Order: sequence, then C-alpha cells, then structure tokens
Amino acid sequence: MLRRTAMYKWLGLSLGFIVALGGGSAAIAAGGAAMPLEHADNDVSNTASLQRGARNFMNYCSGCHSAKYVRFNTIAADLGLSEDQLIDNLMFNAERPHDTIERTMRDEDAIRWFGTSPPDLSLIPRSRGIDYVYNFLQAFYVDPDSPTGVDNVLLAGTSMPHVLWELQGYQRAIFTPKESASGTEYEFDSFEPVTAGTMSAVEFDGFVRDTVNFLDYISEPVQLKRRVLGVWVLMFLTVFLIIAMMLKKQIWKDVPS
Ligand code: HEC
Repeated sequence: MLRRTAMYKWLGLSLGFIVALGGGSAAIAAGGAAMPLEHADNDVSNTASLQRGARNFMNYCSGCHSAKYVRFNTIAADLGLSEDQLIDNLMFNAERPHDTIERTMRDEDAIRWFGTSPPDLSLIPRSRGIDYVYNFLQAFYVDPDSPTGVDNVLLAGTSMPHVLWELQGYQRAIFTPKESASGTEYEFDSFEPVTAGTMSAVEFDGFVRDTVNFLDYISEPVQLKRRVLGVWVLMFLTVFLIIAMMLKKQIWKDVPS
C-alpha cells in the first residue's frame, strides 16, 4: 500500500512538472508573440529555394551575421553547386572553400553601431523557431523615435535595421489600445504600406521564405541526408523482416505444435 502511495506521489509530481513545463512555454509564447505567427511553409528538400536563400543570405545578412557552424564546401555539395559557382555567387567574404561563414563586421564596430553584436544565425532557427524568423523579417515598421527609424513587432526596441527595406518598402503598424488591470496596453492589429518596395508582397514572401529555408537547412545540414538515410533504413528493415519470417517458418516447420 505504501508503495502504491509513493508511486502515485511520483506520478503526481511528474505530471505536475510536465504541466508546469507546458504552462511555462505557453506563457513565453504568449509573452513573445505580439502578433500571430504565420507558418513559414518552407521546404528544405527544395534545392532551388535553398540556392536562392543562400544567395539572399550572403547578399543581405552576412555583412552583420555569421553562420559559424557551416562550411562553404558543405553548402556547395548539398546544394549541387560547382566550386566556380560557389566562389562567384557566395564566397564574398571567405578565402577558402572550407571556411565557415564569418561576418565582415568586426565585434567592436558591431557594439558601437548597434549596441549589441548581431547573433550568429546558424542556430537561431532552432532556438526561436523558423516561423518566428519568417515573421520577424516581415515585421519591421516605421518608428521615428527609433535610432534606426524602424522597430519590430516581434522584437520591440530591436537594434537590427530594416535591411530589406528596398525590397519590401516601408510599412506602418497599427496598434489598438486595450484596457487591462495594469493600464492601457497596445495590441498589434495590422500593417499598412507606407512606401512600395521593388518587390510585390507575394515576391517578398517568397524571398523571405527562401532565406529562412536556407537558415533552416544550415541549422542542421545533416537533415537533408538524414531523410534519405531514413528511407534506406526502412527499406532494409522491411527486407530483413521478410527474411526473418521466412527463416522462422523454415526453422519451426518440423517442430510438432
Ligand atoms: C546591418 C546589420 C544587420 C544585417 C545586415 C542583418 N541583421 Fe539581423 N540583426 C542585427 C542586429 C544588430 C541584431 C540584434 C538585434 C537585437 O537584439 O535587438 C540582429 C538580430 C537578428 C535576429 C534575432 C532576432 C531575435 O529575436 O533575437 C535574426 C533572426 C536576424 N537578425 C536575422 C537576419 C537576417 C535573416 C538577415 C538578412 C536578411 C539579417 N538579420 C541582416 C543586425 C543585422
């Protein structure tokens, strides 16, 4: 009886722990998500999209952000690029194909200009989620009070400038006041274009989707191979199962039941 009570206690404790964990992450999500996140809908098996994403990343992000955990020659091999294509299209700030992606900016300059060092982007998709990054890049809005002239709905007070302004144009964010126990709070409502960019909304969506697709891939380059490997493993197991069943039949056939 004692044992059983102890077991229930442990069960209760573990359940409590799980609920606390779940509640905790829900609270973080609610606190961090100033706007509902749209699904990025990217596909890491789409090589053409990854190639475009790699180009976007090198052109628009690598000045400030490194991606230290991935080498150029790995990218080339995975994305089906020749060494010449690699050097001409992606390696602006690297010397050798086995270099990792370093940013061009120096640390002290980053701190002086932005007050913080732009984070390495190799693992951001895993820590923040790919949907977050997809929405973050689309959530810059004009804010005359900010030193960069913009703020971001998902990261209020961010020091990252709107680096894609030429493509997206500038937008305004509409916030609606909501009365709550702690005073008036402003909730994000919608965006309104202020100036047009060179891309249409649909083209810009595609641009951002390709870029985050590439970030998704570099956060775990092996995922491309793992999927292929998974299919082989399943095929092997199926064949092995058939052989095992045939063997069993053979071995037991003379044993009277
Ligand atoms: C001019 C420099 C600069 C460029 C170019 C730049 N960023 Fe940033 N980025 C920053 C800085 C600075 C931060 C840190 C922001 C902060 O903590 O407020 C940052 C933060 C981020 C974050 C983290 C956001 C978070 O919630 O912590 C992501 C994701 C990101 N950048 C993605 C990108 C992508 C993708 C590109 C290319 C399209 C890009 N950045 C180009 C300066 C830059």
